Amino acid sequence: MRVHVRVPATSANLGPGFDALGLALALHNEVVAEEGQGVSVRIEGEGADRLARDGDNIVARGVRLAYEAAGRAFKGCALACVNRIPAARGLGSSAAAWVAGLVAGNALLGAPLSRDALLDLAARAEGHPDNVAAAIFGGLTVSCTTPEGVTAVALPVPESLAWVVLVPEVTSATAEARALLPRSVPREDAVFNVQRVALLLASLQAARPAALTTALEDRLHQPYRLKLFPWMSEVAAAARAAGALGCVLSGAGPSLLAVVAGDGAAVARALEVALRKAGIQGTARALDVDSAGATSQLL
Ligand code: HSE
Repeated sequence: MRVHVRVPATSANLGPGFDALGLALALHNEVVAEEGQGVSVRIEGEGADRLARDGDNIVARGVRLAYEAAGRAFKGCALACVNRIPAARGLGSSAAAWVAGLVAGNALLGAPLSRDALLDLAARAEGHPDNVAAAIFGGLTVSCTTPEGVTAVALPVPESLAWVVLVPEVTSATAEARALLPRSVPREDAVFNVQRVALLLASLQAARPAALTTALEDRLHQPYRLKLFPWMSEVAAAARAAGALGCVLSGAGPSLLAVVAGDGAAVARALEVALRKAGIQGTARALDVDSAGATSQLL
């Protein structure tokens, strides 16, 4: 039996929603998986030159995890991956890999695991739930970790907004970008973020895009990550000057996500120019929201 799996890129946090919000974007990795003896991995596209091609490959580890969770023996699998999500840029490539493996393994087993069970497994493997929830469910997801597991709710996103992603040609490790964050924060900063993340969800729900400029502000992670991305404030300011409602670090960076009411072309150009001025190459483009999340189809 073979299965084809498609998983979207994701942008986590959306400014104030650290480890809680994720947005699925229409840029997909695809995997064809088949049971086998031992693990073999073919990779085309992003990361083909450096990702593991044995049992250490994250997609393969995801397949194995699904088998273990379902109480079935894992003997191996043959994977053919087409990667379009740039790796180590804050667009959820590792979340997509875990989810692809889990969804593929589950499909090969006849789907014994629910999507919520896959979410728990993926969130534990990834270390935070925001990217994997959006990758599994699609759309804008709100995730909440409890001792029992992750609860996630997917919300619709107004179609009038454009989501412009700037992908710099530099990479960054999420672990390093998380290690920079303090263990505790002033209560004022916690309140600042609680107010903004609530306003963000309310303004999307009520179709009040003007409120997004305030709602996308953050004090919990971006100020600390400026150390890794000192160019971020200037580039985000250029996006705002070109008409973006707001511009935030995508996940743990280095990509940026700008939110625009209407067409995002001018903002995309402004982002590229500002990044180049800071001495870094990169490309920006508007991506649609993926509302389907991870899909699987037996072949
Ligand atoms: N919430 C995570 C972080 C997302 O900001 O570290 C990583 O993609």
